[in-house]
Amino acid sequence: METKLKPVDTSVWRKKPLAAYEADMKKSELKRVLTRWSLTSLGIGAVIGGGVFVLTGIAANEWAGPALALAFVMAGVACAFAALCYAEFASILPVEGSAYAYSYGTVGEIFAWLIGWNLILEYMMGATTVAVSWSGYFEKLLHLVGINPPIWLMNDPVTAQEKAEKLRAAGENIPDFSFAVNLPAFLIVWCVTYVLVKGIKEAASTNNAIVILKVATVIFVIVAGAFYVDAANWTPFIPEPVIDKGGQQHYGFNGIVTAAGIVFFAYIGFDAVSTQAGEAINPKKDVPFAIIASLIICTVLYILVSLVLTGMVKYDALDLKAPVAQAFADQGLTWAVYLITIAAIAGLTSVMLVMMLGQTRIFLGMAKDGLLPKNLFASIHPTFKTPWKSTILVGAIVSIVAALTPIDKVSELCSSGTLLAFAMICGAVWLLRVREPNLERPYKTPALPLVATLGILANLYLMYNLRTDTKISFLIWCSLGLVVYFLYSRKHSHLNKPEDHL
Ligand code: ALA
Repeated sequence: METKLKPVDTSVWRKKPLAAYEADMKKSELKRVLTRWSLTSLGIGAVIGGGVFVLTGIAANEWAGPALALAFVMAGVACAFAALCYAEFASILPVEGSAYAYSYGTVGEIFAWLIGWNLILEYMMGATTVAVSWSGYFEKLLHLVGINPPIWLMNDPVTAQEKAEKLRAAGENIPDFSFAVNLPAFLIVWCVTYVLVKGIKEAASTNNAIVILKVATVIFVIVAGAFYVDAANWTPFIPEPVIDKGGQQHYGFNGIVTAAGIVFFAYIGFDAVSTQAGEAINPKKDVPFAIIASLIICTVLYILVSLVLTGMVKYDALDLKAPVAQAFADQGLTWAVYLITIAAIAGLTSVMLVMMLGQTRIFLGMAKDGLLPKNLFASIHPTFKTPWKSTILVGAIVSIVAALTPIDKVSELCSSGTLLAFAMICGAVWLLRVREPNLERPYKTPALPLVATLGILANLYLMYNLRTDTKISFLIWCSLGLVVYFLYSRKHSHLNKPEDHL
């Protein structure tokens, strides 16, 4: 009998049929081991990190003052809209690949490709930023125990020269060096890579232990810190606006918005839960639960930490590098400084773990669709059942970038990619409701299209408020993505094979 093939759709807006996702899930070689609380723990593991332990200092000191808590509310609301939309998608399509996979089935290939390309910024640049923050806290720990390694071993070349010049200007005798590398950042990334290659189960249990320590420390900061709050430090809650030389407003409402853009980084990661759907025992119910639960838990903790921190120390005296630890050091609580530093080191490790794990699963999703080379990104290890080649590749890139690059710009680039992905996912969930109203949805985003519209606006607004050079770098990154799409991915997409779509 002659089989009639459907004509090949060559449009860049072609969509992956929803039935194909079901087939992918059945074929998946990944082990289904993650429970709803393991998933929530993965979410919290990815979220609490450099944002709260490091960026709160800059955000309060320079931009929001005691209204840091409002900046956290603002960024949290933008994330909440996105989280509610993510949750609906995760319940319909519980596959690895996150926002990329969802938009491939709804909006179209080129849109999905761009989301996937931007998720690389979120996950890989996120992991890179966190690796460098990790190295900063590690150095602090070494100083606490009296070890002072040379600058050129603890920093990327640019930062190392800057630090050396500052110290020389302050009269210290720093010998010249021609080479510098952030060795701790490089090494920690390889430790995480090793755990990830060995297996998701081991990674999940390591992660659970770290998350407990991290959450306990944050609760400790809130409870113990509350005893040292001086309410006078909260007045004025929103300091009078100040315009700097570049014309940028600090404090006041605009200052809070800028601070929200900065602390947005602290929320990045709750969506990493959606990259693990392929390994969840009951993904349709548990992934939406874990996305929303991890976001709620972290938002509450962040708001409380902000209030305690700005209550303990006057905002303009908050430390820029390790504000939480410093606030306790100022009170003479040295033992608490040790505790916070150690918890920050462990906590940042778990952020890296989930970020790098998420990246490999997104690559896996893209490779299964033919948009990336399969032999590299979809090759599963016979014993460990993990995508080991791509894990090693991600480890190599993250470790090299973390060892040699200054991070200030990398972290904003990470936020820009994430904000766009969040806005796109809000649009995509709404579109799918219109196109496929009868699809089974174990979890439904409430108040659509209102929530989706607010999600798009809030995330684009925060993106618009990022610095101009970040926006330019972001445009270059997106253009590069389009080049790769037209030169490779479009040609190798599985949607070119009509026999797959009989
Ligand atoms: N949200 C993560 C952090 O703050 C990326 O480190």
